[in-house]
Amino acid sequence: MVNVAPSTVHVPVLASEVRSLAAVTPGQRWVDATLGFGGHTRALLADGAQVLGLDQDLEALSANAALVEAAQGRLSVKHTNFAEMAEPVQAWASGAVDGILADLGVSSWQLDQPARGFSFQADGPLDMRMDTTRGETALSLLQRSAPDVVARWLRELAEEPFAGPIARAACAWARGEGPHGTRGLAQTVVAALPRGYAAKLHHHPATRTFQALRLAVNAELEVLETLLDVAPKLLAPGGRLLIISFHSLEDRRVKETFAQLSGRRRPVAPRRGLPPPEAPEPEYALLTTKPVTASPLELETNPRSRSAKLRGLRRHAAEVASA
Ligand SMILES: C[S@@+](CC[C@H](N)C(=O)[O-])C[C@H]1O[C@@H](n2cnc3c(N)ncnc32)[C@H](O)[C@@H]1O
Repeated sequence: MVNVAPSTVHVPVLASEVRSLAAVTPGQRWVDATLGFGGHTRALLADGAQVLGLDQDLEALSANAALVEAAQGRLSVKHTNFAEMAEPVQAWASGAVDGILADLGVSSWQLDQPARGFSFQADGPLDMRMDTTRGETALSLLQRSAPDVVARWLRELAEEPFAGPIARAACAWARGEGPHGTRGLAQTVVAALPRGYAAKLHHHPATRTFQALRLAVNAELEVLETLLDVAPKLLAPGGRLLIISFHSLEDRRVKETFAQLSGRRRPVAPRRGLPPPEAPEPEYALLTTKPVTASPLELETNPRSRSAKLRGLRRHAAEVASA
């Protein structure tokens, strides 16, 4: 059990924007695919929804015990990766749902726990798993992966300009004698950089390395792709899918999938000169043509909101889809 007051540990981003795009009506069934500390779920409940809250982090789930109790049967929680949501969602709603929300990534609380290994601000084990009941830690990944593979993660997942030297140093460090804490890895990264480079940066030189490793450990882009495949099919007619992302690689996947589902992207012609194939009538419509970003006030008060992008999709109501 996590001994914290949930509302004090993680401030939900784009809360009022989510609320207005969700447009909940009393009795609707919503899935909060990333329950975290329940910030968005509180608003869904306040607007009268019944909520199934999913999280792959057991500590986050247990921190919502009081909220579950206060919701008096309107909030159920389930430990699962949202990539595996189809079965629990169908079991909970006996069919389709009115909305699904995903607020991707880790919470401020997770980042602040040295024991979880997400951050180098304090020393902790190099773990980085959101779900500590399964999977491989960041240390284990570094120990068994080839430096070339690690360098590719650094380049592709975090645009690290010194991916090669950092990857070689990090793999050698991980395979050497311990201790193997987050601070040790951060120091290894700094030592691998050209002299004077770190002083020119506006962020800690290990920030990109930690970001890439976290995305790799939790397969965050892969599970997002599964979510984008599964979630639209779980929506009832009129149902809404809202996704908040914090990384351009995530936002691009959300944007492209939503464009395809809503018929905004033209099908590709099979051969040059031939017309594109007839596109089926789209089953979905965009709720947002551009991503919704934080207001100046939120930017000032919640630094996490800086890179947040919210996009929404709506399944057509039954009569429109069959018209
Ligand atoms: C940014 S926080 C969500 C915060 C929440 N919206 C709130 O207001 O408190 C993301 C949460 O989603 C969880 N999470 C991230 N990826 C997940 C996944 N693939 N499946 C299930 N939970 C996930 C994390 O463990 C974390 O608790």
